[in-house]
Amino acid sequence: MNNLDKIISNITSRNYTVGIVGLGYVGLPLMWTFHENDLDVLGFDVDESKIKCLKEGKPYIKHLGDEMMAKLAKSNRIDATTDFSRLNEVDAILMCVPTPLDHHREPDMSYVQVTTETISKFLREGQLVILESTTYPGTTEELIIPILEKNSGLKAGEDFYVAYSPEREDPGNPNFNTAKIPKVVGGHGEEALELAKALYDTSIVKTVPVSDTKTAEAVKITENVFRAVNIALVNELKVVFQKMGIDVHEVLDAAATKPFGFMKFTPGPGLGGHCIPIDPFYLTWKAREFQENTRFIELAGEINTNMPRYVIQQTMNALNDYKKSINGSRMLVIGLAYKPDVDDMRESPTFVLMDELKELGAEVDYYDPFIPVVTPTRGHADWTGKKSIEWDSNVIAQYDGVIIATNHKEIDYEALLECAQLIVDTRNVYPKKIASQVTTIYKA
Ligand SMILES: NC(=O)c1ccc[n+]([C@@H]2O[C@H](COP(=O)([O-])OP(=O)(O)OC[C@H]3O[C@@H](n4cnc5c(N)ncnc54)[C@H](O)[C@@H]3O)[C@@H](O)[C@H]2O)c1
Repeated sequence: MNNLDKIISNITSRNYTVGIVGLGYVGLPLMWTFHENDLDVLGFDVDESKIKCLKEGKPYIKHLGDEMMAKLAKSNRIDATTDFSRLNEVDAILMCVPTPLDHHREPDMSYVQVTTETISKFLREGQLVILESTTYPGTTEELIIPILEKNSGLKAGEDFYVAYSPEREDPGNPNFNTAKIPKVVGGHGEEALELAKALYDTSIVKTVPVSDTKTAEAVKITENVFRAVNIALVNELKVVFQKMGIDVHEVLDAAATKPFGFMKFTPGPGLGGHCIPIDPFYLTWKAREFQENTRFIELAGEINTNMPRYVIQQTMNALNDYKKSINGSRMLVIGLAYKPDVDDMRESPTFVLMDELKELGAEVDYYDPFIPVVTPTRGHADWTGKKSIEWDSNVIAQYDGVIIATNHKEIDYEALLECAQLIVDTRNVYPKKIASQVTTIYKA
């Protein structure tokens, strides 16, 4: 049996330990998926509080549920640590660290770089290193492999294996979890691909091999550019149709009955989350190296970035009907998370709404059952420590206006209708039929 066959046989017989670096929205469910398929997993994170939570079974990502954390804490096949020297204990190292944009809206590769440097210090023969973070095409070949080879003295494809496999998590989506979402994989060479495929085949419904790492990197970026551009399109349609007295949601629902050639996207108050507002600009940045412009991406970014301003304009118009201005008003924004039923507030357009309202002289509060307090987040330091109000009809009735920015399911929208003076609905919580009968509902 050659070396590769032996490693694959270890994987199939579960005599194999997976290391996961970065135990956030991507890394934690990945840990769970391998665990559920009988592999040993050792998790690494620089954030001690996450390691403590994992050991004590305390949930730190709400939508993943309490049961999963309790099971992980009890399992003897799971361990987690901040001690990166233990990287040499594992057979595969999967990197799931952040890839945000910097102040100039250019890729911030510092997390990936630091993690790779750390891995390179402990790298040993036969190990498989896989990058799962979203990134520009070329990252694995141009950034990861040179660091790993230089610091370890080992050769990729000969002494150790490298692959790229993008994550396709959709947090809060009850129909899909990591195990059920097909996984695209590109290897640095045939052997790396074979090994990575064997690993994911243990736990994931389908592995989709592509010819190399940069193709796999391009797949992920393409998926997210597709979303960003289509969301921008329906956001633009929303603004135009609203002026024409047409309900964009009714239009989109009817259009979605076409059994081919149409895919429904939903307009909203702007883009949020760690992926769609950010990832397309990784390609924009890389394209410049090839003297190419990504005009679709830039335009979609411009439209989506302007949506919160449109919501503010609609809010001004609504208050105007009551002879009020934003200046001096008390405003409540519902939903700080960027999408329903999750506790993720990264890049949430609600921050932009709150910034603009404050800038215009409003007193601003928020309500979000998933986010009781604003923890430090990139770019919105002003709001750190701000607490969600408690749900209380008498309290809500005191606000001059309520903006629904995120439509969490557990909110009692009927009760809100009873108590709010005025509601700006950016999520079609109140469909046309209801909204047309209630004078206090404004669409935005
Ligand atoms: N969140 C999603 O739904 C999603 C979906 C698909 C892809 N992605 C991509 O996956 C990657 C990770 O995203 P996420 O949402 O899980 O981020 P996250 O912020 O939830 O988790 C990242 C984790 O990495 C840790 N970390 C940071 N630096 C580290 C280091 N040097 N060593 C070890 N750990 C470190 C952080 O403490 C954190 O726990 C990003 O590239 C993102 O674009 C995210």
